[in-house]
Amino acid sequence: MDIKPSLLSSLVVLLFLLFAHSSNATNKIVEVNKICNATLNPSFCSKILNSKPGGTNRADLITLAKYTIGVVRSNVTSTIRLIKSLIRNSTNSDAKDHYQLCLKHFDYEEGALGEVVYAEKMLKAKDYQGVNVAASGVMATVEGCVSGDSPSDPVFPDHSSLPKYAEYVEQVADIICVICNYLTGIYK
Ligand SMILES: *[C@@H]1O[C@H](CO)[C@@H](O)[C@H](O)[C@H]1NC(C)=O
Ligand SMILES: *[C@@H]1O[C@H](CO)[C@@H](O)[C@H](O)[C@H]1NC(C)=O
Ligand SMILES: *[C@@H]1O[C@H](CO)[C@@H](O)[C@H](O)[C@H]1NC(C)=O
Repeated sequence: MDIKPSLLSSLVVLLFLLFAHSSNATNKIVEVNKICNATLNPSFCSKILNSKPGGTNRADLITLAKYTIGVVRSNVTSTIRLIKSLIRNSTNSDAKDHYQLCLKHFDYEEGALGEVVYAEKMLKAKDYQGVNVAASGVMATVEGCVSGDSPSDPVFPDHSSLPKYAEYVEQVADIICVICNYLTGIYK
């Protein structure tokens, strides 16, 4: 009577391993240099991926995607904190309007934070095309804060650290897009 549960649990472990193996068919190991070579800023990308605790030596694509999404989430969150502080401190209404628009571009409801949460969800669902769409969404919405929503919008002369934060977020999101292109097989 005692044997049965342990047999059962061995079977569960075996099935899990089989399942994990088959569903990881796309989860290859790709050299960090090769991934970063395909990004907009390869040296920035190497810095980010090589700062992964435990190192990136032979890390698989899904592990790198998970790590990079975590980085972008933390950067989006600190950017939101910065924007709220900039709104509080603004003394002129143009600046206040600009930062309020940027807050929309970064927050959960319409902005980057919502896209990041969606990327996490898609990664869990192994929908790597979905992760790519979400990461591209992060880049687009952040660019809308920096450059305005349409090309005819004048660019606000922002001398705060927000443009630097925004650029950082865009570059991390770009790394996620490249990792996804390897996961979906667009890049080989
Ligand atoms: C980096 O990209 C260039 C051209 O885009 C290519 O010639 C080179 O082989 C690539 N290097 C690596 C390490 O993939
Ligand atoms: C982005 O997030 C990473 C990881 O939490 C952190 O080390 C880095 O300082 C952040 N950068 C910015 C500009 O927020
Ligand atoms: C807003 O003002 C406070 C108080 O002067 C200051 O500590 C903080 O750094 C300012 N925030 C920004 C983003 O400049």
